[in-house]
Amino acid sequence: MNAPSPTPDHTNAERLAAANLAAGAVKDGMVIGFGTGRAAEAVLTVLARRVYEGLKVSGVPTSIATEAHARALGLPLTDLGAHPSLDLTIDGADEVDPARNLIKGGGAALFREKVLAAASDRLIIVADSTKLVTRLGSTRGIPVEVLPFATGACIRQIAEMGGEAIVRTKNESPVVTDNGNWVLDVTFDAEAMANPRALDTAMRAVPGVIITGLFWSFDATVVVGIQGGTEVLGPRL
Ligand code: A5P
Repeated sequence: MNAPSPTPDHTNAERLAAANLAAGAVKDGMVIGFGTGRAAEAVLTVLARRVYEGLKVSGVPTSIATEAHARALGLPLTDLGAHPSLDLTIDGADEVDPARNLIKGGGAALFREKVLAAASDRLIIVADSTKLVTRLGSTRGIPVEVLPFATGACIRQIAEMGGEAIVRTKNESPVVTDNGNWVLDVTFDAEAMANPRALDTAMRAVPGVIITGLFWSFDATVVVGIQGGTEVLGPRL
């Protein structure tokens, strides 16, 4: 018999446990990337408490929403102009496969998330146990940020690769990213999804594609909440 799926309460508890552990990796004087989503917000809450107690840290936000949240918590903010390289980014993920390849961008913040991950010495991902999948694409499509002008052509060229792309909408209008672009959610068959690097490379070669939510090159440390504790996958915290 399969184990029962975690309830929303369980996943929340798992996220909080993982966020607590991951926030411990932030040391005095670090400049870090502040991720987007519920897990990343839980990390900011822990950090705000530590800043109140004297920790010195500043962060570059991965989205306008995160910037507002960090400001509300009183967390010091900076930018890549002042700090072109960061000690660490702590973020969430939508899916994590056994090789720690990721799908990100469920919250449409994939572009800045990938920029900050690439600018950071280390990437730490905070996740609840529902994010662990045996194969990327098991629970959702790949978010792909595209230039609105080019969207039709991008959809057609991705279809030629075997991908089915739909424009993400909210209230029947395209979702607009913090960068003024649109997001496609793209599904491929299992065989194609087995090679995220090749898919990412192929889609990025399409003029008008800005970035994809396939994160395959980051060797992330994944801190995952499990019932009754946490587990760390990949490089140690
Ligand atoms: C934002 O664009 C995403 O990459 C988030 O990091 C991802 O959707 C995880 O969000 P939750 O922590 O809310 O599940």
